[in-house]
Amino acid sequence: MDVQHRKPRVAVVFGGRSPEHAISCVTAGSVLGAIDRDAYDVVPVGITRQGRWVLAADDPTRLAITDGTLPAVPESGSALSITTDPTARGEIVVAAPGEVPRALGEVDVVLPLLHGPYGEDGTIQGLLEMAGVRYVGSGVLASAVGMNKHYMKVVLAGAGLLVCRHVVVRPGEWERDRSAVAASVASIGWPVFVKPARGGSSIGISRVGGPDDLARAVELALEHDPKVLVEEAVAGREIECAVLGSRDGPPQTSVCGEIIVDDTHEFYDFDAKYVDEEHVTLAVPADVPEDIAQEVRRLSAAAFTALDCEGLARVDFFLRADGSLLVNEVNTMPGFTPHSMFPRLWAASGLDYPALVDRLLSTALARSTGLR
Ligand SMILES: Nc1ncnc2c1ncn2[C@@H]1O[C@H](COP(=O)(O)OP(=O)(O)O)[C@@H](O)[C@H]1O
Ligand SMILES: [Mg+2]
Repeated sequence: MDVQHRKPRVAVVFGGRSPEHAISCVTAGSVLGAIDRDAYDVVPVGITRQGRWVLAADDPTRLAITDGTLPAVPESGSALSITTDPTARGEIVVAAPGEVPRALGEVDVVLPLLHGPYGEDGTIQGLLEMAGVRYVGSGVLASAVGMNKHYMKVVLAGAGLLVCRHVVVRPGEWERDRSAVAASVASIGWPVFVKPARGGSSIGISRVGGPDDLARAVELALEHDPKVLVEEAVAGREIECAVLGSRDGPPQTSVCGEIIVDDTHEFYDFDAKYVDEEHVTLAVPADVPEDIAQEVRRLSAAAFTALDCEGLARVDFFLRADGSLLVNEVNTMPGFTPHSMFPRLWAASGLDYPALVDRLLSTALARSTGLR
């Protein structure tokens, strides 16, 4: 059937193999509740922690945090796959154990609500490119660069944006010669932040005050990624800006917001993000002078363009006391519950949550497959 003659079918993909599995499920719960069912057919697709694709329940309540328990995609669902044959145009096939595979039909657009590796990093985007299926958000390159805190800095700096001083610890380097790594880290000056190169939700990140605590922090980061980044600790306010992109014109930017974490937390860590939310204020709009706000928006659009982002991104900055702005990171699939910064920035800029979801889907449906 042709797209013109029926509602576009959206596969909402969530869960996944990264440590941000549960956060992705929470996001999917909100999005499933917000998609206009008169305009779209929805197929909820869960990816289990082990990486199996399963047909998920179209039930937002199952994907909420209940009594402090984080949601997950059950390993038991019927296995499902997207045909990688591009002439099949994104046909989804469900195979229950012992049954003949049943075709669920073609998918017109995929909404990959995945955070972290195997989702936000270009891998699922590559799969969808091979399958010739449209999807929301950045393509392979921007997703991969945005996920990799090392290459993100290379690309941003190449476009003339400021990033903090840092040292890359490549796979095996720490194990081979930890004193050489410690010496180059010391050249940045203390304190430092130690991070998995491809992480998210602050998982595996530590603030390190001096050389004695470096080993523990590097080893924690290595549990999440064989590649580690060590950065100078930037003294500054955390300012964020949301970007929407389409083929029709330059990227659009939202008002700016600020993350204000009280002093019970050393930085915006996992607990501050998702557990002790009362210790964090998301100030929207950020209380900054108008010229700074305009500069944040200009730099956000520049970062979006530098990485070849598509669809959406949130660009995070450090604003130092002297007014300089360093890009901390570009998130190609930012947190997306109605309470998250990205939707709140758009709500404050005149686009509410359901309208934002619709905007992302219609932008993705309008773009072509293949090289763009
Ligand atoms: N170089 C740095 N200087 C100061 N604070 C930092 C630095 N890097 C990270 N942080 C703090 O740690 C948080 C998480 O780091 P970030 O690089 O954004 O990782 P994630 O991708 O997990 O969000 C930031 O929001 C900030 O509070
Ligand atoms: Mg961050």
